[in-house]
Amino acid sequence: MTTPTPMIEMHHVGKRFGSVIALSDISVKVCSGEVMCLLGDNGAGKSTLIKTLSGVHKPSEGEMHVEGKPTRFRNPAAALDAGIATVFQDLAMIPLMSITRNFFMGREPTVGWWPFKHIDWKFADRVAHEEMAKIGIDIRDPSQPVGTLSGGERQCVAIARAMYFGAKVLILDEPTSALGVKQASVVLRYIAKARADGLAVIFITHNVHHAYPVADAFTLLKRGTSLGTFRKSEISREEVLNMMAGGAELESLDAELAEFQRNDSEKASSAPAASTATLAANQGHSSPQARLGTGL
Ligand SMILES: Nc1ncnc2c1ncn2[C@@H]1O[C@H](COP(=O)(O)OP(=O)(O)O)[C@@H](O)[C@H]1O
Ligand SMILES: [Mg+2]
Repeated sequence: MTTPTPMIEMHHVGKRFGSVIALSDISVKVCSGEVMCLLGDNGAGKSTLIKTLSGVHKPSEGEMHVEGKPTRFRNPAAALDAGIATVFQDLAMIPLMSITRNFFMGREPTVGWWPFKHIDWKFADRVAHEEMAKIGIDIRDPSQPVGTLSGGERQCVAIARAMYFGAKVLILDEPTSALGVKQASVVLRYIAKARADGLAVIFITHNVHHAYPVADAFTLLKRGTSLGTFRKSEISREEVLNMMAGGAELESLDAELAEFQRNDSEKASSAPAASTATLAANQGHSSPQARLGTGL
């Protein structure tokens, strides 16, 4: 079996902001038809990495290859032209503008010839409606402001836009973190669909439970460094969780919560006596809250 050429490869990439080292020595790759999950706690450098990848930041060190060729994007538009569509964490959308206008922003379809050339809104509205329907979101009116959509629906507009304009690589920065279960599953299904359609997907999240079902590989970032890349077959959900920042903390939190629970149930078994005692104590003393209360 021949190894496919990765769509994107980063070799030993580093990024500094003045004296802040946001990334150091990161190597990642993603192939067509594959989902690579970039995991890590807040501040790990996930957004910085994909911004470096998609032309927002220039890398301070290292190099990047797109379809095997050394590449350096001057700006995000250049990355988009090369088929790399990024849905940034801070969605670039204009709330008061319509869904259709946000969908086609910068790439409006036109009809006619100069001087009668104009934007074909009828076509644009239809496409926006159809593309959203494809991901299971039925917008009644594509001319309604994008600000009237929920966070998840907005996220889907951005993803549908990337797909429609023929992306080969789809990069999603925490698309599911602000979403409820139902909407997160819409986005996750969409990721699975993009993968089945042969796109290379980089999916950023700090939620292992969202990452695990859709990922082929995981790269874990911690404080700007990579803890490694693992194929799904090499690592269990629990291992991913434990490797992420917070894994150890979660374990000690678990133990602490179990302790609270034990104390609670002990208290509950001697509840009536305890509550009368607390009441008496509160009446006897002037607690800080009580003093504050009378002072106000
Ligand atoms: N433009 C910037 N200037 C200075 N520091 C930055 C900039 N962007 C990110 N950083 C720093 O880089 C680190 C990683 O941030 P970020 O990539 O946003 O993390 P994540 O997306 O994993 O939560 C943070 O410590 C952040 O303060
Ligand atoms: Mg981020």
